[in-house]
Amino acid sequence: MTDFTSRLAQIDDLDALKALMNRSIAQLQGAFLTPEQILASYHVMGLDAQLVRDQTYFMIECDGQLAGCGGWSFRATLYGGDDSIVTREPQRLDPAIDAAKVRAMYTDPGFVRRGVGGLILSLCEKAAREAGFRSVELMATAAGVPLYAAKGYRPSAPLVHSVVAGVSVPLLRMSKAL
Ligand SMILES: CC(C)(COP(=O)(O)OP(=O)(O)OC[C@H]1O[C@@H](n2cnc3c(N)ncnc32)[C@H](O)[C@@H]1OP(=O)(O)O)[C@@H](O)C(=O)NCCC(=O)NCCS
Repeated sequence: MTDFTSRLAQIDDLDALKALMNRSIAQLQGAFLTPEQILASYHVMGLDAQLVRDQTYFMIECDGQLAGCGGWSFRATLYGGDDSIVTREPQRLDPAIDAAKVRAMYTDPGFVRRGVGGLILSLCEKAAREAGFRSVELMATAAGVPLYAAKGYRPSAPLVHSVVAGVSVPLLRMSKAL
């Protein structure tokens, strides 16, 4: 079994994280989206540096190589990156009534189906639980849905489409009790 280690991302890691995300967005969505939808998805996905500043963003490494990343948040923003068209909602959630958010999950194309995504989810869920949250939710890309479904997440709203320059990208809100 592969030896993965985890650590919290730091500001110095942003360039490496963005490079991994770009590879992941470009190469791992082909079975789920058209080439036009993949290009459009760059505008609804990507890194939210707020997660790194909040120290809620994990990196998974294997022999010093970045294998994947993903995080959680105590803020209201449900999805989207620094450069995306999605509105930022920085207000803090109330763990007693709100669901923590799972955010920006990406595995390097060279490390897929080796448990990296599942490992990140379990780290996020543990941290959210320790912060007092009783549930987690996320906005899933089509490529993310099989992972989340396998890990106990269920749809919590009808499928929506984010439209970027006339191209629609499907997104599914999913949640899980902790
Ligand atoms: C979604 C993503 C993070 C999954 O990462 P991963 O490290 O390969 O996931 P895991 O190895 O932990 O998968 C765990 C389980 O999820 C399911 N799963 C994951 N990817 C799957 C796929 N492409 N097809 C079908 N099932 C899949 C399987 O049940 C898998 O278990 P198995 O490999 O034993 O069958 C990765 O494909 C990715 O980065 N995609 C592009 C970016 C993206 O869309 N991210 C989601 C944003 S919401």
